[in-house]
Amino acid sequence: MHKVSRVFVALMGAALVVGMLAAVAAARVTAPSAKQAAIQACVLLPDTKSSARYELFDRPYLAKAFKAAGIPATINNAQGDPQKQRSQADDCLANGAKVVLLDQLDPASGAAITNAVVKAGGKVIDYDRLVVHSKAAYYVSFDNVKVGVLQGKGLVAALRANGKYSQHPVIAELNGGITDNNAKLFKQGYDSVLNPLYKAGTFKKATAGDQWTDWDPNKGLTIFEQMLARNGNHIDGVLSANDGLAGAVISALKNHGLKPIPVTGQDATPTGVQYIVSGWQAGTVYKSIKVEAAAAAQVAINIIKGTAVKTNGKVSGTPSVLLTPVWITKANYTLLFKDGFVKKGDVCKGTYAQYCK
Ligand code: BGC
Repeated sequence: MHKVSRVFVALMGAALVVGMLAAVAAARVTAPSAKQAAIQACVLLPDTKSSARYELFDRPYLAKAFKAAGIPATINNAQGDPQKQRSQADDCLANGAKVVLLDQLDPASGAAITNAVVKAGGKVIDYDRLVVHSKAAYYVSFDNVKVGVLQGKGLVAALRANGKYSQHPVIAELNGGITDNNAKLFKQGYDSVLNPLYKAGTFKKATAGDQWTDWDPNKGLTIFEQMLARNGNHIDGVLSANDGLAGAVISALKNHGLKPIPVTGQDATPTGVQYIVSGWQAGTVYKSIKVEAAAAAQVAINIIKGTAVKTNGKVSGTPSVLLTPVWITKANYTLLFKDGFVKKGDVCKGTYAQYCK
């Protein structure tokens, strides 16, 4: 062969190899999205900071429920970033999602995501948090006013038990995130118990003792430190809206060498239960996320299969499935182990083992 044509053949060969490699690479890039294109359900969880629940409970229980039903689904966590949640929603739609389970970060981004899903012909289930007056088809959550009532009554019961009820106890309230409709419903619930007691002079609200925290335990810590300072460390009870905020309160009390006082929580996290058994937290609200995830997944499955959805209420006009929360204290925490919700080994370990029965 002529020298020039030999070089030409070699170049052609190289080009062929490069072309083949490119095709393999392209196949590798397209393969996962081709697979993702088959997703039918998409879950958008809010963050990891405001509660341990999302990665510890919501993700695995939702994954299990969709897997059992044979529904391809993706579960995303926006890490507190509304823009990220929006792009996760867009990815889900691009990959074929028909139903989006939305746990919103704020009402504006929640409504925008909902509009995008509806525009694409999909349906939104508001998961745990309602985007009030959005185009969501359903809402699956707990009776969140009841959650707050349990917290308020739990605080009162703990103040009776430690003898402070009759001594005009000073109470602080650490509310959740003002952009979360649930946080408002919780407050409505606990204030329905506490406000009449403030009004009657039975309880006294601490100075600067009623504040919103964005569900951020670090903010909660700073705010509670300030409350202690403003009240000369004299606070007798804290209505804190979840276990993360309770943990912040407890660490502030410990930092100041103060004794345990009644502190409330929510979510039945292993850390919350450790504080309960060791006497630092009065109680927590157990919302079985196992049941909540299964209920939300069932609504999604019914929508996808075109079968009827069963609801048991309406919240702000949205057809809802509402579940019942349970107050947990030292007296009944083993229910969490019996239900298989929290592992005994995650609570009764290290220095906490001595407190477990
Ligand atoms: C949820 C709580 C959670 C809080 C912070 C609320 O909307 O219902 O379970 O502790 O948000 O994430």
